[in-house]
Amino acid sequence: MIVVPSKLTLSLRVLGMRADGFHDLEALTVAIGEPHDALTIEAAERTTIAVTGPFASGVPVDATNLAVRAADLAGVTVAITLHKGIPNGAGLGGGSADAAAVLVALGRPDLAADLGSDVPFCVHGDAAWMRGRGEILEPATVPALDIVIAVPPFGCSTPAVYRAWDELGGPTGRTIDTGVEGLPPLGNDLEPAAEHVEPRLAAFRRAVEEAAGRPALLAGSGSAYAVIASGDADLHTRVERAVEGAVYAASYLPC
Ligand code: C5P
Repeated sequence: MIVVPSKLTLSLRVLGMRADGFHDLEALTVAIGEPHDALTIEAAERTTIAVTGPFASGVPVDATNLAVRAADLAGVTVAITLHKGIPNGAGLGGGSADAAAVLVALGRPDLAADLGSDVPFCVHGDAAWMRGRGEILEPATVPALDIVIAVPPFGCSTPAVYRAWDELGGPTGRTIDTGVEGLPPLGNDLEPAAEHVEPRLAAFRRAVEEAAGRPALLAGSGSAYAVIASGDADLHTRVERAVEGAVYAASYLPC
């Protein structure tokens, strides 16, 4: 069984639009163990996928599933079982991480960028600056972090959030100084756009921040929020009591 970690953007700056319809980014990203997916993959006569787990609902079980597309692109037929622990539409890169795990298992990590902007990071893991549309990676030094992830009971559509960023004229997100030694100032330029697309997100963020007593960072294009919990062992419990949705205690440990 392969354990598939989530991808968490600690910071995401959108530098501008590109001619190919994507956006130029600069994102500081880490791999975290919670929430996580788990998958098995074995040779088969034709490619199939069976999806179980708390977030299996709505996950495609046909050729549009990114894990299946990874196998198709590698030119092999496999039977995949996928236990979905990473919520969909949360900005935690679940589908990209599954595809990355399949490519690594098949010995074809070189195909990652063809499957999506986040797949190269999911192959890389650990901590990296993502640039270009996300596929240009530079290893980053990030200190060990305890992180609480709060996922509301609604998701955000990534294309819709990027579209809103364009329509809003390219807004800049808040700059957050976490006070954690070794972390640069953080921020997510997609936050104003995500709150525009999903009006319930702002109230969710306020509830998380009030319970945590610290600022919360939007994960990717949302809808999950992350709080650096280092030094506050009780933070997870407070956030869990305060919000509706799924709350995880995660950590980043440098490899
Ligand atoms: O590459 P991926 O398929 O994950 O991207 C999903 C959508 O997110 C794209 O269709 C695009 O609308 C948006 N996106 C973007 N700029 C990026 C990454 C994603 O506009 N750098």
